[in-house]
Amino acid sequence: MSLAGKRILLIVSGGIAAYKALELVRLLRAGGAAVHAVLTAGGARFVTALSLQALTEAPVGADLFSLTEESEMGHIQLSRAADLVVVAPASADILAKMAAGLADDLATTLLLATDKRVLAAPAMNVRMWEHPASIANLATLRARGVAIVGPDQGPMACGEWGFGRLAEPPAIVAAVAALLAAGPLAGRRALVTSGPTHEPIDPVRYLANRSSGRQGHAIAAALAALGAETTLVSGPVALPDPPGVAVRHVETARAMRDACIAALPADVAVCAAAVADWRVAEAAGEKIKKRPGAAPPALALVPNPDILAELSAPGPARPRLVVGFAAETGDLLAEAAAKRARKGCDWIVANDVSTAGGAMGGAENTVHLLTAEGAESWPRLAKDEVARRLAQRIAAVFGSERKT
Ligand code: C5P
Repeated sequence: MSLAGKRILLIVSGGIAAYKALELVRLLRAGGAAVHAVLTAGGARFVTALSLQALTEAPVGADLFSLTEESEMGHIQLSRAADLVVVAPASADILAKMAAGLADDLATTLLLATDKRVLAAPAMNVRMWEHPASIANLATLRARGVAIVGPDQGPMACGEWGFGRLAEPPAIVAAVAALLAAGPLAGRRALVTSGPTHEPIDPVRYLANRSSGRQGHAIAAALAALGAETTLVSGPVALPDPPGVAVRHVETARAMRDACIAALPADVAVCAAAVADWRVAEAAGEKIKKRPGAAPPALALVPNPDILAELSAPGPARPRLVVGFAAETGDLLAEAAAKRARKGCDWIVANDVSTAGGAMGGAENTVHLLTAEGAESWPRLAKDEVARRLAQRIAAVFGSERKT
């Protein structure tokens, strides 16, 4: 795989796996990349700046306040000059600092200052990896679009066994190549909604629906895989955040709408969320009590904002391509065509959500794509495959246009 002409900023943090960073440098350079290494104080306990310097054939950064380094290349410039920032190994400590936005040495300052994609390869003791603090830090970083490779499972230097081993250098190089591959949607911004929304009735009860978010999450992953800078606005789901996607977690339709507006501008928006059409007019501040003999409470509902219609409305912020979903149980194609006209979106993906179809919550979907040219029916496919096909179709639209 060719990395010719690519510039990698490699941050080596502390841990026994740091020795593998040397092999990583060798493989990156063999692929044609130029590597600039930065060593944390912890990293310098395991590998030397001299080794990294010899292998990268470039000065190794270590000191935020170095007069010579700053005069040659300031730390902000260092982080901007790279095509990709790779943190390998990424210790529990540096991941925590990244999640918190700390900048107390050269490595963390670069990570806070960079406007480039970041790939982290965690390596730590299995108990550290499984600690709720590490889990929360990883979730934060993933939600910000930091790509993660590994860790692998296996025996560890500390004698334990489990997840925490640094991914092997060839796997890290493959992740680098995938992130740097200029996909057909490179330079495009995509917005995807996914999952249900939860509309509170009182502090413990809510209105919801059966959406799992599988289709929307798969679409976000597929768009990101084609190079789009993708934001996924997700309602409550039991799915991991897709890699390489910035995820905004929301509960209600109104929060989903606000997160979508905040994510604009976008070239393409795909509204796959099953947004609740109504919410309770006034959610109770206290749990509604069940009193013996008392009539059940009546819920007064009011309409939620229609995010798809709002994104489709003409205006300077309208994405070039807006795709909606139509989940129907009746006359699917007629309902979907009417929805396309009513909402003002460009395409509708119509799927049959009658119980027999199994689309809601299932792994497969049978869909029809409605565009201005008409309807085309796709065979029954895994949701991942539906997502890949849809992303390809979206890429074809942008491929036929010049990027402005
Ligand atoms: O109106 P209906 O829910 O049938 O339309 C489905 C399409 O509209 C889906 O793409 C869904 O994500 C979107 N939608 C929305 N906001 C709503 C309701 C639906 O974005 N409040």
